[in-house]
Amino acid sequence: MIKIAPSILSADFCRLGADVDEARAAGADYLHFDVMDGVFVPNISVGLPVLKSLRRATDMFLDVHLMIVRPQRYAKAFCDAGADLVNFHVESDTEENILRAVTTVKECGKKVGVTVKPRTQAEAILPFIEYCDLVLVMTVEPGFGGQSFMTDQLPKISRIRDLIERCAPQCELEVDGGVDEDTAPLCVRAGANVLVAGSAVFGRSDRAAAIRAIREKTK
Ligand code: DX5
Ligand code: ZN
Repeated sequence: MIKIAPSILSADFCRLGADVDEARAAGADYLHFDVMDGVFVPNISVGLPVLKSLRRATDMFLDVHLMIVRPQRYAKAFCDAGADLVNFHVESDTEENILRAVTTVKECGKKVGVTVKPRTQAEAILPFIEYCDLVLVMTVEPGFGGQSFMTDQLPKISRIRDLIERCAPQCELEVDGGVDEDTAPLCVRAGANVLVAGSAVFGRSDRAAAIRAIREKTK
C-alpha cells in the first residue's frame, strides 16, 4: 500500500494545526516537514519550535526532511522536538559526519533516512543503507514547493529500489518534488512506496479529493 506524505511547506502557516488535521482526516499517512537553512538550499522555512508545536497538536507520523548544512549538529534536537523520522541529505556533510548523525537518530529510538539530490548518484546511499528505514529521492532541486517533476530521476528511483531489495529490503523509498496524480504512478512504477505531495495536496482546497486522486491513480 502506497503512503502519502503531504508537505507542510505548501500549508497555510497561520492555520497549520487545522491544515494538518484536514490532511489526517483525508487519509494522509505521514506528514512531511521541510527544514531549510538558507545555506544548503536558497530558501528558509521552519525549524524546531514549529516542530515542537506540531508534535503537541497531532499524533501523525512526522517525517522531517533536513535541508541544512552539517545536520549532525541538530540530529538529537529534532528527535527531542518530536520527529518520528529524520532525513539527512548525503551531500550536506562528510560521510563520517552523516553516519554520526544517522547513529544519533537511532540512539534516540527514532527512524532515519538519507536523501539524494537530483544530480547525486544512486550509489551515494550505500554507506548508509544498512542503517536506514527510508531513502528519499528528490525529483526537483530542493528548496521550493511547486516545481515540475524531473522525469529523468525515474531510472535512479528504480536503481535505488534494486539497491534496497539487495541490501535492506525493509527500507522504504520516498520521492519528493512535483508529485501529483499524474507523476505519482510513474514513481510507484519505478519502485517508490512513499509519495511526498506539497502543492498537490495543500495547494488544493479539497485535500481529501487530492489524496483520493493520487491513491486512485497508484492502485
Ligand atoms: C522541496 C521540498 C518538498 C516540497 C514539495 O525542497 O523538499 O518537500 O514541499 O513540494 P511540491 O510537492 O509542491 O513539489
Ligand atoms: Zn521535502
